[in-house]
Amino acid sequence: MKGAMLVGGFGTRLRPLTVNTPKPMLPLVNIPFLEIELLHLKEYGVDEVVLSTGYLPVVFDEYFGDGSRMGMKLTHVTEDKPLGTCGAIKNVAEHLGDGPVVVCNGDILTDLDIGELLEYHRRKGAHVTITLTPVEDPTAYGLVPLDTDGRIKEFLEKPSWDQVVTNLINAGTYVLDPAVLEQVPAGENYSFERQLFPDLLQRGEPLYGFRSDCYWLDLGTPEKYLSAHHDILNGGIEVPFGGKEMGENAFVGRDVKIGRDAVLYGPLLIGDNVSIGAGAEILGLTCIGNGVRVGPEARIEGAVILDDVTIGERCVVEQSVVGRGTVLGSGVHVAEHSVLGDNIEAGDGNEFKRGIRVWPSTVIEADKIKF
Ligand code: GDD
Ligand code: MG
Repeated sequence: MKGAMLVGGFGTRLRPLTVNTPKPMLPLVNIPFLEIELLHLKEYGVDEVVLSTGYLPVVFDEYFGDGSRMGMKLTHVTEDKPLGTCGAIKNVAEHLGDGPVVVCNGDILTDLDIGELLEYHRRKGAHVTITLTPVEDPTAYGLVPLDTDGRIKEFLEKPSWDQVVTNLINAGTYVLDPAVLEQVPAGENYSFERQLFPDLLQRGEPLYGFRSDCYWLDLGTPEKYLSAHHDILNGGIEVPFGGKEMGENAFVGRDVKIGRDAVLYGPLLIGDNVSIGAGAEILGLTCIGNGVRVGPEARIEGAVILDDVTIGERCVVEQSVVGRGTVLGSGVHVAEHSVLGDNIEAGDGNEFKRGIRVWPSTVIEADKIKF
């Protein structure tokens, strides 16, 4: 079965993590997120997938190639300019065939039952089926009110609160009959959410909503990126990850050196070739990448540390993200959803708090930042 994945966005809200890495290629439990998403599709027989890329396309190509390593057939199509969600799929239509296709936003972590979704699409005779999920604040999403038969009445992208008549939003996984793309102008920026869906509804075409209470998270912001890790480590969604269990819920990769009196208190995941200094504490809901060095008596809690980071002695990193190759001197404190980009050098004693974000490759002298 065929699918298409929208992975061309700039991931602006996740900057600076997305400066060198497109959002779908950011690691989640040390696996590029898109690999998790593609394997989820494959589980339901969707094994021929077109990746609609735009921003940093080589990162996808270098990692996945033609998909044969995963037992899938992947086709990469790169836009010259952003074509919008629908324009991007129109642009790959020649690869999609005539039957229904599964189209996914490339930033959704979910365990949606795609088999049930496809069955629902057929049973309803829908031209488009949109997966729906309930959320507390629908204003950041596409609002989708239904009638009692599950037929979509309206599609309101990023509604204001006075338009909110339901808590059901577009969960970013669709089944489309490719014929609906015929009316879409080729090579133009065109949106599913603001153009195609409202247009089809106006013409009375059958668009249905498939409501699911499965796990669902849009990875669009640093807070959500941390939550996704916490949820996987907590077992809120099942995503197979590496490492061997060493003590309760502490998963540790190959060639990991753990210093004297270091404490590992899970749930946590540590990648390969990592060293943890004497007396360091790695505490719950932390994910540490490959090649990371943690200095003596450092404390890491609820954090995501990407590959090849060096954390100095007595540093504290809590509920924050540290980008690839970044080096923290001693006694640095990173907390409260702060995000440090890749390859930063932060001297001793700096304090990054209150969600501060630091651009990649910044060099910061000792004791300069107390935020
Ligand atoms: N190829 C390509 N070209 N991909 C794009 C483009 C483009 O021009 N624009 C966005 N994308 C991709 C992004 O990479 C992402 O994977 C996906 O399309 C959705 O874009 P986001 O920027 O993440 O949109 P959103 O989160 O604000 O809203 C969308 O998702 C919500 C669910 O998370 C909408 O579909 C909402 O209706 C929906 O509720
Ligand atoms: Mg999104």
